[in-house]
Amino acid sequence: MSETVLRIRDLHTQFALDDGVVKAVNGVDLDISRGETLAVVGESGCGKSVMARSVLRLVDRPGRITGGEIWVRHPEGPGKTPEGAPGGMVDLVTADKRTVRSVRGKRIAMVFQEPMTSMSPMHTLGNQIGEAIRLHEKVSKAEARRRTIDLLGRVDIPDPKRRVDEYPFQMSGGMLQRAMIAMALSCNPELLIADEPTTALDVTTQARILELLRSVQEEFGMAVMLITHDLGVAAQMADRIAVMYLGSVVERGDVVSVFRSPRHPYTKALLRSIPKLGSGARERLRPVRGMVPHTYRRPPGCPFHPRCDEFLAGRCDTTEPLPVRGPEPDREVRCLRYEERPEEAAATAGTPQARDPRRHEEEGA
Ligand SMILES: Nc1ncnc2c1ncn2[C@@H]1O[C@H](COP(=O)(O)OP(=O)(O)OP(=O)(O)O)[C@@H](O)[C@H]1O
Ligand SMILES: [Mg+2]
Repeated sequence: MSETVLRIRDLHTQFALDDGVVKAVNGVDLDISRGETLAVVGESGCGKSVMARSVLRLVDRPGRITGGEIWVRHPEGPGKTPEGAPGGMVDLVTADKRTVRSVRGKRIAMVFQEPMTSMSPMHTLGNQIGEAIRLHEKVSKAEARRRTIDLLGRVDIPDPKRRVDEYPFQMSGGMLQRAMIAMALSCNPELLIADEPTTALDVTTQARILELLRSVQEEFGMAVMLITHDLGVAAQMADRIAVMYLGSVVERGDVVSVFRSPRHPYTKALLRSIPKLGSGARERLRPVRGMVPHTYRRPPGCPFHPRCDEFLAGRCDTTEPLPVRGPEPDREVRCLRYEERPEEAAATAGTPQARDPRRHEEEGA
């Protein structure tokens, strides 16, 4: 059986602001196994970055994790392990600060959406990456510098011996992104979370960075959570995919089966919005109809119902859907249309999510 490196259960992260509460992450369940790539996709504002930052306990104030579990592997795991997971895991939601810090950067590293949030403009690459190495390992400055040069070379930064003494502003976007990946790899993490690692780059550089990610993943044998709004990137890179909408995962499964037979109307709409070869270059894409609702006004029932092409009046606007498993292994969808099919509803009857009474609480408009 493949080894779980991250298991998220019913995660809730909220921002309590003066005008109301933003439920940025609202009941996310996710698993990532050793060595695999999970793509997390969804429109802007659906909670991808907040979910990723929650994993490392790096949510900006006034954001707060208000519920759920984030299990990661840890040698000092207290022995209390999630159902069905291997031993030696800790829950980062309840872990102490020391444990969280020992996971961050060491077991789980992150490449952020905005490069400059993790790079300091005041320090050279060598100092920053060297510092990251020395934070987790007792090595001399000279050894850290040697390792930094080696890492810069591994991410295909030309002339690493010179570049190691450069500042971030001296580098192009693509080179900086490589340096960020080098920094993330510096402690040989078992999970790399890459939040839109290529969005700001031109297409050629984007392709090179993705290629690089794939090759370092093979070399280092790590798992990758790749956050992207680009379904093409997800198809090219991922083993499995999780589609997020308004803070929850509405559909997940292996990439081939989700792309071949999407079940959630939101997944179907997203797939229709990607360009197809040969469909005529001038043909307009069909974006998902309607807008993501205002953050304070989460629709009651299924949060996607105001935009849904398969909306059932009197049902989708009143009842929050539960996850439904199947038909392929590892597939799950949150849509009332599938809950109505008894054979599939039965398949979820034993899951903790299905039993959780909170799932039926109405959020109110
Ligand atoms: N610091 C913050 N303060 C208040 N609200 C926030 C903060 N950060 C995020 N949010 C809100 O949380 C929700 C989820 O945001 P998040 O950044 O996770 O979206 P995303 O899926 O990463 O979008 P994008 O594709 O644009 O990066 C949004 O409604 C956003 O406005
Ligand atoms: Mg984001």
